[in-house]
Amino acid sequence: MGNIVTKDKFIGGGGPLVQVLDAAELENDKPQQVQVKGPDGATTSLLLVKHSTPSPAGGSPKKSSANGEVITALGSKCPHYGAPLVNGHFEGGRIRCPWHGACFSTQTGDIEDFPAIDSIPCVQLRQEKGKIVMPAEQLKLFQSRTRELLTKEVRKQRAHATEGHGNVVIIGSGGAGQACADELVRGGFRGRIRVVTSDAALPYDRPKLSKNPAAEFEQLALREEDYYKAAHVEVILGTSVTSVDSSAKTVCLKRNGSDETEEIMYQTLVIAPGASPVKLPLPGIESTDSVLTIRSLADAGRIAAHIKEGARLVVLGGSFVALELAAFARGKGAAVTVVMRGQVPFETSLGPEIGAKIKALHEVNGVVFETGTSFQVIYAHDDSREFKEVLLTNGKIVEGDVCVLGVGATPATEFLKETHSNWLDEKGFIPVDKNLRVNGTSKEDEVFACGDATTFPYRTGFVGGSRVNISHWQVAQNMGRAVGKAILAAEAKKEEDQTPFTVAPFFWTVHYGKSIRFSAMVHHQCLSLSGMPAGMGSES
Ligand SMILES: Cc1cc2nc3c(=O)[nH]c(=O)nc-3n(C[C@H](O)[C@H](O)[C@H](O)COP(=O)(O)OP(=O)(O)OC[C@H]3O[C@@H](n4cnc5c(N)ncnc54)[C@H](O)[C@@H]3O)c2cc1C
Ligand code: FES
Repeated sequence: MGNIVTKDKFIGGGGPLVQVLDAAELENDKPQQVQVKGPDGATTSLLLVKHSTPSPAGGSPKKSSANGEVITALGSKCPHYGAPLVNGHFEGGRIRCPWHGACFSTQTGDIEDFPAIDSIPCVQLRQEKGKIVMPAEQLKLFQSRTRELLTKEVRKQRAHATEGHGNVVIIGSGGAGQACADELVRGGFRGRIRVVTSDAALPYDRPKLSKNPAAEFEQLALREEDYYKAAHVEVILGTSVTSVDSSAKTVCLKRNGSDETEEIMYQTLVIAPGASPVKLPLPGIESTDSVLTIRSLADAGRIAAHIKEGARLVVLGGSFVALELAAFARGKGAAVTVVMRGQVPFETSLGPEIGAKIKALHEVNGVVFETGTSFQVIYAHDDSREFKEVLLTNGKIVEGDVCVLGVGATPATEFLKETHSNWLDEKGFIPVDKNLRVNGTSKEDEVFACGDATTFPYRTGFVGGSRVNISHWQVAQNMGRAVGKAILAAEAKKEEDQTPFTVAPFFWTVHYGKSIRFSAMVHHQCLSLSGMPAGMGSES
């Protein structure tokens, strides 16, 4: 494999060709990973797919052989965390990543579902004398896991962006806000894009915070700083929106740590502020600075600073985030006590059986559980604001050096309460319609909302027809993208072509290197256990 076979014109390129595989070795609809040697001797890993029937997902690709097959070469690794896509699920011209469910068209490489945020390289191949071949030149495309989002055309469009063509203000730079800005860029939006965020750092991978709170920004950044400059996306960091005036179409901004405020105008407003972790009003909580919560990179840094060999971490709550932090702390040699009301973690989402296995996994790794109880009073040391101990409702005292509350989050919509309480439900969520416009607003208001702060009409599954809040990274991203598409459709005056928002929710959580993933909306009574990986409790 990898010999240069001929010089020829090719779909999308000329120059020498390399042999990729004997055509007979590639079966229809069975993705295969191959190593291809280029003229310089370097090896490139490709994912080959022979499509028996071109799917509508791929448009109308050229045929690779006389009998109508379409053969494509794609990047073999998922751009999210690098999973081998060959182990993913292939169906209907799409491949779904085996690790966290990102989905790509195998005919174009286009990204179709998050949490990956970029498309993968893809070229069409053809057969010559029983061999699958490609121009050697095209191997270069596979040096990167991703396909360039900022193509020449997109750069040009964005360079000429003006407020005359639209003025979008996005509140929040999390999963939803980032995906919305990306979609506007990808779609060649010609207007101004501003992202206002109370976060001090450019958009980053929030789910990693509890899996590795010690991670540096560089390990978490979703995109490099240069991207925002080249895409003409203005990210206003460390700044909170304090109120919205929808009649004047303005938002009021306040730089964190300053009293100065500023008003900016928008034409289209996207509200994506996510959620704030619950800080319980417990007696004694104000006496210490080491009872912490986690939502932002700064929060994670504060927690990581306490976690070292021999430190004692007390966690309140049996949430995914709480137990991921517990696993991280055990990995660093800290002692961990988890205090929770229920008997097993994740009982409401995964049910008692799976919850018990996960608890056992943590116990095997040295976590101590105090179940059926909660915090009653928090005590700091007499001579400092350091956490000392907590009295539980069962009368026990747990000592520690740092305490993390992992007891859920509430929508971060406080800033809407004064002027737009009519946009909020009784729990502070923002109900949106099927196109993610804020309920009660008109087309002319141009106000959308997305992400953890919202509830939206869910159309399928056991909750089909009801309104839901799904606080998953990939759901927030999908909502953000849908809002981006809606804004592009409005700009192109093609709103009637828009399809209602829909998503197949996917969530993952990682404990001691073991990943638990679940998809769709299911009630835990529908879940059954047919085996557990080694190390999860007594069964394997
Ligand atoms: C530690 C942790 C681990 C997680 N792990 C997973 C996981 O493994 N898998 C998974 O699917 N999900 C996970 N989640 C959930 C997932 O991160 C959220 O569902 C997702 O981040 C929601 O996206 P969002 O854009 O709605 O909100 P966020 O990502 O929270 O972003 C909200 C943004 O709005 C900003 N903001 C808030 N208020 C204002 C304001 N007034 N003015 C300006 N800016 C404001 C914030 O600074 C932030 O930038 C995790 C969450 C946390 C906190
Ligand atoms: S590695 Fe593919 S979705 Fe995470």
